[in-house]
Amino acid sequence: MAEPILIAKNLVNSSSLLPKMANRHGLIAGATGTGKTVTLQTLAEGFSKAGVPVFMADVKGDLSGMSQPAGENKKVQERITLLGLNEYAAQSSPVTFWDVFGEQGHPIRTTISEMGPLLLSRMLDLNTVQTGVLHAIFKIADDEGFLLLDLKDLRAMAQHAAEHSEQYQSTYGNISAASVGAIQRNLLQLEMEGGDQLFGEPAVNLNDMLQTDAQGRGMVNILASNKLFNSPRVYGTLLLWMLSELYENLPEAGDLDKPKLVFFFDEAHLLFNDAPKALMQKIEQVIRLIRSKAVGVYFVSQNPLDIPDVVLGQLGNRVQHALRAYTPRDQKAVKAAAETFRVNPAVDVVTAITELGVGEALVSFLDEKGAPKPVERSYVCPPESRIGPATEAERTAVITSSHINNKYEALVDRESAYELLTKRAEVQVPTKEEAAKAEEATKEQADERDFDWVGVLTGERVKPSDSTVERVAKKAMQSFGAQIGRAILRGVLGTILGKR
Ligand SMILES: Nc1ncnc2c1ncn2[C@@H]1O[C@H](COP(=O)(O)OP(=O)(O)OP(=O)(O)O)[C@@H](O)[C@H]1O
Ligand SMILES: [Mg+2]
Repeated sequence: MAEPILIAKNLVNSSSLLPKMANRHGLIAGATGTGKTVTLQTLAEGFSKAGVPVFMADVKGDLSGMSQPAGENKKVQERITLLGLNEYAAQSSPVTFWDVFGEQGHPIRTTISEMGPLLLSRMLDLNTVQTGVLHAIFKIADDEGFLLLDLKDLRAMAQHAAEHSEQYQSTYGNISAASVGAIQRNLLQLEMEGGDQLFGEPAVNLNDMLQTDAQGRGMVNILASNKLFNSPRVYGTLLLWMLSELYENLPEAGDLDKPKLVFFFDEAHLLFNDAPKALMQKIEQVIRLIRSKAVGVYFVSQNPLDIPDVVLGQLGNRVQHALRAYTPRDQKAVKAAAETFRVNPAVDVVTAITELGVGEALVSFLDEKGAPKPVERSYVCPPESRIGPATEAERTAVITSSHINNKYEALVDRESAYELLTKRAEVQVPTKEEAAKAEEATKEQADERDFDWVGVLTGERVKPSDSTVERVAKKAMQSFGAQIGRAILRGVLGTILGKR
C-alpha cells in the first residue's frame, strides 16, 4: 500500500493524506496571501514522490519554482525547526511545462471537434439560440464529413451553413444569419484571446501528462496560465475540457492504492461563475464519476461559497486557511466552512478560521474507511522545492530537456473543413443534397441525356437549374477526357452559375 503523505503538523498530531483516498477529491480554501499556493505545492510534491503525476494551472507563475530545489528561506527554516521535520531535504520535482501560447512550455492544443459544441459555446459565451445553431453547425459538419480542427474550419463551416440555411432548415432547424453573425464575432474574439493557438494539431495526448520519471516520481505538469487567465472563460473551459477528456479516455479503475492523476483547479470559482445549467450538470457529473477513473480533483479557491454545494459535498480532503470575517458574506463563508468539518472538541473552528496565520490551516483528510478525520489546527509542511517562480533560463532548461520537446512545437495544418470549403467555393463541387437532387433530375429527365451543353456555355440555351448544370458539366468532363482538367470545369461552372 502507498505510504500516507504528510501534509501538515502541529505539536501533537500530524495530518497525512492517504493515497488510497486521494481520488475522493479535495479543497484548499483561504483568503488571499494565506498560503494556498504553498499548500498546493506541498500536496503536489507529496503526490509526485508517491509516484502520482499531477496537473496544475499556474496562474501567477509562482508554481514554476517546483522545478528547482528550495534555497535559503527563513520562513521555511523556522517551520522545519518548529515541526521537527528531520527528514526534510531540499529537492526539485520532475516538471513538464505546458503553455497554450507555446512560450512558457510545450504547446497544449486540441481540436474544435474534440472540444465539442457544449464547451465551445461556453468559451464563446453564446446564448441558448446561438448554442443551438452551433450544435447544428457541428452536426452538419459531422453528417457531411467535414473535419473541424481549428478556428478557421469552424468559421468556414458556419459561413457555409448560413449560406445554405434554406437547404438545411428542415433537417437542422433555423440557422439565422443573426446567430451565425454573433458566433462569427465571438470566434474572432476567441481568436484574439489565444484560440488560434489553442485549436489545431497536433492535439495534446493526455497520456503525456500521466508519466513518471526514471526514479518513479510522478511528473508535475504545470500549465502556464498567467496570460491565459486574462480570458477566464477560455481558462475555465480548457481545464474542464481536460477533465472530461480524462474522464472519457481513462478506463474504469475501481479502488486503486493511489490515483493515476491528481488535478488541481486553481481559481476554481471561474469554472462555476454563471455557468449555464447544462454545463453545471456536466461539471457535477464529471467530478462525481471521474473518481472511479482514479483521478482526484482538488479545487483551490478564496471562498468556499464560490463552489456549488453539489460539488463541495464531494470534496473529502480539506485544507482551510484563514478567512476574513468583515462583511456578512464573509461571515457566512466562515460559518459554512466551519460546518463542513468533523468536530474535534480541542478545536474551536469558527474562531480559529479567522485567527490562522500564514501557512497555518484547519485540516481534515479522509480516513481508511472514507470518513473525514476530526479537524486539526496545523502548520502546513514547507515544500522541498522552491517557493516562488523559476527564472526564465531555468524554465527553458527544463523545457528543452523534456522527452516530449519538439513533439507539439510545430503546428500541422492538414486539409479540413476550411480547405475543403474554400476549394468547393472555387470548384462548386455539389453538396450532398445537390448531388442527390442532380441524381433525381437525371432519373426524371432521361430525355435530356443528350443535352446540348455547348448551347448552355454559349448562352444559346436558357440557364438550366444548378443541378442540371453540374450533371452536364460532369458529362462534359467525361467526354472531353482527362486533358480538360479541373481548371476548365471550374471555369465552366463559374461562368454559368455566376458564383465564383
Ligand atoms: N507552509 C508554508 N511554509 C512556509 N512559508 C509559507 C507557507 N505557506 C505560505 N508561506 C509563505 O507565505 C507566502 C504566501 O503564501 P501563498 O502564495 O501560498 O498564498 P496564497 O494564499 O496562494 O495567496 P494568493 O491568494 O495571493 O495566491 C509564501 O510566499 C510563503 O513565503
Ligand atoms: Mg496563490
